[in-house]
Amino acid sequence: MISLRKINTLLIIVIVLMLLNHAVLSLLYLYGIISYSPDFQITGRRLFYPVVAHIIISMYLYFKDKSRGVNRYPNLISDTTQQLISGIMIIVFVSLHILGYSFNPLGEQSTFNFSLYHFIVDTLMFVSIAVHLRVSIPKFMISLGFLENKDEHVNFKRKVNWAVLIILIVLILGEVMYYVGGALW
Ligand code: HEM
Ligand code: HEM
Repeated sequence: MISLRKINTLLIIVIVLMLLNHAVLSLLYLYGIISYSPDFQITGRRLFYPVVAHIIISMYLYFKDKSRGVNRYPNLISDTTQQLISGIMIIVFVSLHILGYSFNPLGEQSTFNFSLYHFIVDTLMFVSIAVHLRVSIPKFMISLGFLENKDEHVNFKRKVNWAVLIILIVLILGEVMYYVGGALW
């Protein structure tokens, strides 16, 4: 029988691909490389459904493991807590992200307050997603059966930390260029 963990793994692959689609398109616009397209909103709205499914399955797995006292990876107790806390932060900031852009989409005239709101909310959302992925990607690789020895795991974690940090900087810079740059020139 196909387990919930396998369904979650498939969902995560779908989420990552859709998130890349949504984020790369939006980011190219923020950097001024492409012109406005309704796809920015459409890709975001589609992303919503698999993320909600991932939240429900992950919360179920988290509390099931907790109540059984199961710990899949003995050294990673604090990692699971980080996944839960960053996950809850994602729910809060993604909700504010969606609310903000549904009231004041990118293509429309914005006020200083709306621009400040988008900048702060989006930055905090990026940080929450980065923290979640920093912990989750190495765990995800273990779930897929990679990273069998400890050295490999430690090495991979370091690389993921760097990759996530660089992506975070590129994302925040996009917002700075668009919102701060937009106010200046
Ligand atoms: C941007 C959206 C998200 C992405 C790309 C993402 C990605 C991932 C990945 C890659 C894993 C690792 C799975 C594994 O260990 O095999 C994971 C696990 C987890 N995620 Fe997310 N996630 C997202 C949003 C959320 C949200 C909103 C929550 C809300 C609570 C959440 C809660 C969790 C939890 C609790 C786990 C651990 C599940 C377990 O014990 O197996 N995630 N996520
Ligand atoms: C990490 C990177 C992300 C970036 C760079 C990003 C960027 C953007 C931008 C620039 C818009 C405005 C589009 C417009 O007004 O035309 C937008 C809208 C949207 N985003 Fe994101 N986003 C990200 C993550 C997410 C996540 C994780 C979700 C949800 C699960 C999401 C859901 C949405 C939705 C639903 C909208 C449309 C809101 C509406 O008008 O109804 N985004 N995003």
